[in-house]
Amino acid sequence: MGKRQEIEISTAEAKRQMDIISQLAHHIQGKNLKFCITTFGCQMNAHDSEKIQGMLSKMGYSETDKEAEADLILYNTCCVRENAENRIYGKLGYLKKLKRANPNLLIALCGCMMQQDIVLETLKKTYRHVDMIFGTYNIYKLPELLQTRFETGKPVIDIWDSHQDIVEDLPNERKYPFKSCVNIMYGCNNFCTYCIVPYVRGRERSRNPEDILKEIHALVEDGVKEIMLLGQNVNSYGKTLDIPMTFADLIREVNKIEGLERLRFMTSHPKDLSDDLILAMSECDKLCNSLHLPFQAGSTDVLTRMNRRYTKEQYLALVSKVKATMPHIALTTDIIIGFPGETEEDFQETMDVVRQVRFASAFTFVYSKRTGTPAATMDNQIEEVVSKDRFNRLLDLVHEIQVDYMESFIGHHTDVLLEEVSKHDPNLLSGRTSESVLVHVKADPSEIGKIVDIKITGAKTHYLIGECL
Ligand code: SAH
Ligand code: SF4
Ligand code: F3S
Repeated sequence: MGKRQEIEISTAEAKRQMDIISQLAHHIQGKNLKFCITTFGCQMNAHDSEKIQGMLSKMGYSETDKEAEADLILYNTCCVRENAENRIYGKLGYLKKLKRANPNLLIALCGCMMQQDIVLETLKKTYRHVDMIFGTYNIYKLPELLQTRFETGKPVIDIWDSHQDIVEDLPNERKYPFKSCVNIMYGCNNFCTYCIVPYVRGRERSRNPEDILKEIHALVEDGVKEIMLLGQNVNSYGKTLDIPMTFADLIREVNKIEGLERLRFMTSHPKDLSDDLILAMSECDKLCNSLHLPFQAGSTDVLTRMNRRYTKEQYLALVSKVKATMPHIALTTDIIIGFPGETEEDFQETMDVVRQVRFASAFTFVYSKRTGTPAATMDNQIEEVVSKDRFNRLLDLVHEIQVDYMESFIGHHTDVLLEEVSKHDPNLLSGRTSESVLVHVKADPSEIGKIVDIKITGAKTHYLIGECL
């Protein structure tokens, strides 16, 4: 299908859904209907949930954080690890009781977990109180699916295997007025052997730069100061466009947008991080002082079996290059422990990378077997006790380095975007430094949304304490 035709289809589709939203708004008017959405998984899902919230608000639903008072409960699900899935099944058991008490309650499930046949079979067999199920490709069809549910009174299940169109211009409700995520691409082509994402999010497709820039301009005009560009592997942005564009050039364009103050992106795959991107990062003044660069494992042998397409040495060389250009950059990472066949020696290579790079922080995971991925059928799956032991040793090291890193802020000044009243102490505001480090500071709530100069006076493993000047 030609690009022009695709664009016309997606515009027509957005309009069709907007028309249904208007019809539903008429139907819902005066009924005081409430929805409650819970989001699992990564920033992609969090951003998809904002789109869902935007559509429901336009229909006239108001949001509640209490499931017991909701007329529509949605779970936007994740399946990257098994425990994420188990939590959903656990919650569904509890919803059965709520539904018995309120037969008008609608339950909707969407997101990555729904893209697996085995999950659909289980839901159809054992969880028949679910009213609506949709996947990652057709979130924009929520208005139509809801309309069908209202009209037929029957469960609606709509899962697509793939979809190339990108539907633009649907409503979107931001969690924060002053910061926002922006998708630059969808899907993933990398097929790391442990990972289910390429199967549930489909092939990589990039949004047109004009659409991305238009969206960011509109967000900035609406008061947004900080943008996070989102993709499973942003470094391969633009390769599939009719007129290819590199990620480095995209951030150069975004950096020019007047009024925007901070720019972030995630996630970067080490195999595609180009010299030009490092150059662009050092040139663009709005880019924040942080880089998330997952390495997953230190042993080249494990990396090969993970299909990561770089060696330990290549990863370390890349980090050296980044640090040579941006000496104070906060490097963060993802690490998997207990990949099939991982030996104690392999594990020590992981520890070695952590010691050499000295990450500002790291997300550490115990390998979780995902049916359908190549690693699930590999020999030598690691026993849980062994993984847990390695995991604990890794966590100790990561924390020790993290504490050092956090303490290095003490006595220094840093710009902090104040984001919200602290969840632990109503007298404090919480914000983030350019390095994305959490800071708690005594300040008036009227300061929320501002970037202020803060003096750091204390440090804990996961946050800093500061004073407004
Ligand atoms: N596209 C991103 C990450 C997406 S998933 C990237 O490649 O960096 C986020 C993280 O979950 C991964 O980086 C990986 O560390 C972890 N992960 C993915 N599949 C996993 C599995 N089967 N078991 C444990 N951790 C996993
Ligand atoms: Fe998964 Fe690898 Fe793609 Fe990241 S790059 S989403 S880990 S397959
Ligand atoms: Fe994200 Fe989980 Fe899906 S990590 S892409 S929500 S499987």
